[in-house]
Amino acid sequence: MAQMFLRDLAQKRGLAIGTAVSADALRGDAQYRTILAREFNMLTCENAMKFGPLHPACGQFAFDDADAIVAFARENGMAVRGHTLVWHRMLPDWFAKGGFTYDDGIDLMRGHIHTVVSRYRGQVCAWDVVNEAFEDDGGWRGTPFLRMFGPDYLTTAFHWAHEADPDVKLFYNDYSADHVNRKSDAIYAMVRMLLDQGVPIHGVGLQMHLCVWDDLHPASVAANIKRFNDLGLDVQITEMDVRMKEPFSESDLLRQARIYREIMEVCLRAERCSAFVVWGLTDRYSWIPDVFEGEGAALLFDADGQPKQAYEALKEALWRERT
Ligand code: G3I
Repeated sequence: MAQMFLRDLAQKRGLAIGTAVSADALRGDAQYRTILAREFNMLTCENAMKFGPLHPACGQFAFDDADAIVAFARENGMAVRGHTLVWHRMLPDWFAKGGFTYDDGIDLMRGHIHTVVSRYRGQVCAWDVVNEAFEDDGGWRGTPFLRMFGPDYLTTAFHWAHEADPDVKLFYNDYSADHVNRKSDAIYAMVRMLLDQGVPIHGVGLQMHLCVWDDLHPASVAANIKRFNDLGLDVQITEMDVRMKEPFSESDLLRQARIYREIMEVCLRAERCSAFVVWGLTDRYSWIPDVFEGEGAALLFDADGQPKQAYEALKEALWRERT
């Protein structure tokens, strides 16, 4: 029997399976391109579509990296998630510290969203319109957008994205909101309010950045997904990785595999969990060691591009979890 790769198994389940992609790695690493095209049918620009990289100076856009990633996706039959239009990080100083009036700020935000969403219309299937607007305790994060525009910034951002591309699916995306907890409760209340106001929002992204030492409660993740599905919203796992501490042990790798499998099973059993995206292709390119010293090995392929137990566990879940 021909070997089945992740994307073949996922395709049979109608599931998009993706990874975050670095433009530099895509250009410079042939093995990276080979694994990416072989295993995934979706990708997210890890950084290339963020405000700062795309719009480094007022009115000046830099699309080369994002265009290269989108072209690779098109050439390899892959869907693209757009990440992200409104986020407090990787904001260029000209915007974050521009001291604009409300009206000028609104014009700049509308211009950014319209320019970016229009450019990738028909090439991006879903946008993380707003990313990480809440604190872990469920309160509003004090972002430049909240300061400039008040809480309505979410509503206007979704409307502008919809104006620019009425067909693209619009998501709210966040981390540490995977289980039913204070943060996901706040997100649930917010998306309910947006829906009641007729705001064009179509889904919620659960980033799923986990650690092997976490207490995972799959039933709580399933209940969280269900309550968003019950609102008529899609849910996508948007940035999964499962980090461990050095020295990485065999038991860590096995626990990691079990965590990946449990979340995949929750996704496959959900009414609408349409995508499962990991945040990086191989451990060599993971963001984690740069941020969490002495931690890493969070992805499906090791630093040499070899599949780990977690990769096999996902294939097994996709193969076994028949509806
Ligand atoms: O490109 C510059 C390079 O020119 C410069 O020499 C270098 C050193 O300063 O920085 C490079 O930019 C870095 C960029 O990644 C590209 O490598 C930024 O400093 C660094 O902050 C940035 O980190 C990214 C981070 O988001 C912040 O944007 C990570 O790669 C990326 O994995 C991470 O992803 C986020 C999601 O977007 C949202 N959810 C959480 C997730 C993890 O933080």
